[in-house]
Amino acid sequence: MEYELTYKDKEPEEAVLNTAPARLRKVKAFGRGRGDGNLLISGDNLGVLKTLLGMKEENRLRNADGSNGIRLIYIDPPFSTNLEFKGKKDQKAYRDKIIGAEFIEFLRKRLILMRGLLSEDGSIFLHLDWKKAHYLKMVMDEVFGEENFLNDIIWSYGGRGAKAIAGQFSRNHDIILWYGRPGHIFNQQAFQRRVRKGEAGFTKDGEGRWFKTSPRGDYTDSSIEELGKTGRIHRTRNGNLRIKYFLKEDGDYLIEDKLVGDVWDDIPDAMHLSDAEKTGYPTQKPEGLLARIIRAASDKGDIVLDAFAGAGTTLAVAEKLGRRWIGIDSGRLSIHTIEKRLLNLKGTKDPSASQKKYSAPLRPFSVFEAGDICTHANGLNVKSACSFDGKMGECVIKIKGIEGPELNGQGLDALSSVMLDFDFNGEVFRCGRAYTAEELKRSGYEVRFPAKKLKNEIMVVYSDIFGNERWYLGKVE
Ligand SMILES: C[S@@+](CC[C@H](N)C(=O)[O-])C[C@H]1O[C@@H](n2cnc3c(N)ncnc32)[C@H](O)[C@@H]1O
Repeated sequence: MEYELTYKDKEPEEAVLNTAPARLRKVKAFGRGRGDGNLLISGDNLGVLKTLLGMKEENRLRNADGSNGIRLIYIDPPFSTNLEFKGKKDQKAYRDKIIGAEFIEFLRKRLILMRGLLSEDGSIFLHLDWKKAHYLKMVMDEVFGEENFLNDIIWSYGGRGAKAIAGQFSRNHDIILWYGRPGHIFNQQAFQRRVRKGEAGFTKDGEGRWFKTSPRGDYTDSSIEELGKTGRIHRTRNGNLRIKYFLKEDGDYLIEDKLVGDVWDDIPDAMHLSDAEKTGYPTQKPEGLLARIIRAASDKGDIVLDAFAGAGTTLAVAEKLGRRWIGIDSGRLSIHTIEKRLLNLKGTKDPSASQKKYSAPLRPFSVFEAGDICTHANGLNVKSACSFDGKMGECVIKIKGIEGPELNGQGLDALSSVMLDFDFNGEVFRCGRAYTAEELKRSGYEVRFPAKKLKNEIMVVYSDIFGNERWYLGKVE
C-alpha cells in the first residue's frame, strides 16, 4: 500500500475477519410466504455481518441475476457527534458517543466485513458529515481500493438559518462516498428543476418554444446536420453554434430535465418531510435520497443492505422499488419503528401488492434477534380482560392500562401497537393482525377479532412507544 491511515489500536484485517458470528433467532414473521423473506435483524451489526458472510458462503444471498452477495450497501452510521439521540416523544433512540480513533476503527471493522458481503460487482455508499468523512475516505480507499472510488456526493440539504455559525460558513451538507467494484450497476438519474419564464439563460424562439442551449461538445458534423433538421441548432450573435434543448411549460414556469451530478441540492432534509413520511425517529433520512441511491446502483430483485437501519428508510424504499433488503440495528426503538413503517407502507406502484390492512407488508419479512437480545423481556406490563361477544361472534380484549419502567405514568397514550398471532407455533410470532395506536385509541382500547380465527394458542404482542414489548400467550378453551 502506497499510503495508509494509522491510529491507535488499529487491528490487523485477519483479526477483524475472525470476528465471532452472532447467533440469530427468528422471532417474528410478517406476511405470507415461504422462507424468511426480507430480513430485519436486531443486534450489534459486527457479529451479524459475520453471520451474513456465512450465508453468502452458502450461496444464500442471491440477486435478481443469480449473482451471490449484496448488490448495494448503504450505511448512515452515527457521525461521532458525542450526542444522545431521542425520538419525538423523548424515547431513547441511540447514543453516538464513540469518538476519535475508536470511531474510525468501529467503522473500519464493519466495512471490512461488508466488503466480503458485496457481490462481485456490488457497491457501497457511506454517508457521513464534515466531522469524520475525510478520515473515512482514507479508510474506504484502504478497504475497497482507491481505484474503486466512484463519487464524493455532496448532499446539500438546504439552508437552515439555525445552522449559521459565527466566524465560519454555515454547514449545510453531508458527504456520501460511493465505491463500486468493476461492472457495478449505474442507472443514470435525472431530476426536474422549475425555473421562472424569463430567467437568464432561457429564451423563446420564433415559434414560441422555450429553450436553453449548451455548447456543441463532441457532436460530429453529421449529428449537427441531423439536429438542424429538427430546429435544435442555435447560432449566437457572434456566429457560434450551440445545441438547443426545448423545455416543458407549466404556467409561469419552465420544467428543465437535468442529469444528476455529484452535488445533490434538490432533496430537502428530514425537517421538510411530509407527515406521512415522518416516523419520529431522530436522524431519519428522506426517502428521496435513498430512492436516488437505490435506483442508481441496483436493479429490481437485487439485495440491498443497511447495517445502521435507524427508522428503516433504506428498507422502506427498497421495498417500494421492488428490491429485496436486509436491515440491521441495535436499537429497540429502531426495530419497533421499522416494523410499524413496513406494515404501513403505501404508495407502491407494484400491482401485486395489495396493502389493505396494517398487518401485512408488501412482501414478507422476518425479524431476528442476535446474541443475547430479547426485546420482550424488558418489563412492560399490560392489564387487560378478555371476553366473548356472542352476538358478533367476536373475541374482545379490553386493554385497561400499561405499566413499565420507562413510562412515567403515561398510561395508554404510550401504547404503540398490538399484534396478534391466531395460531402461535410456540417459537415464531406470525403476525395475523396488527392494530396501530390510532386504531386502538379510536376503538377505546378494545381489540376485536372473529372467534373463528382462533386455532390452538393465541399470542398477543403489546408494544409501547419505546419499543418495549410484552408477549401474552392465551389458550383457546
Ligand atoms: C444515523 S442513524 C440511521 C438513520 C437511518 N439512515 C434513517 O434514515 O432512519 C444510525 C443508526 O445506527 C444504529 N447503530 C449504531 N451502532 C450500531 C451497531 N453497532 N449495530 C447496529 N446498529 C447500530 C443506531 O441505533 C441508529 O439507529
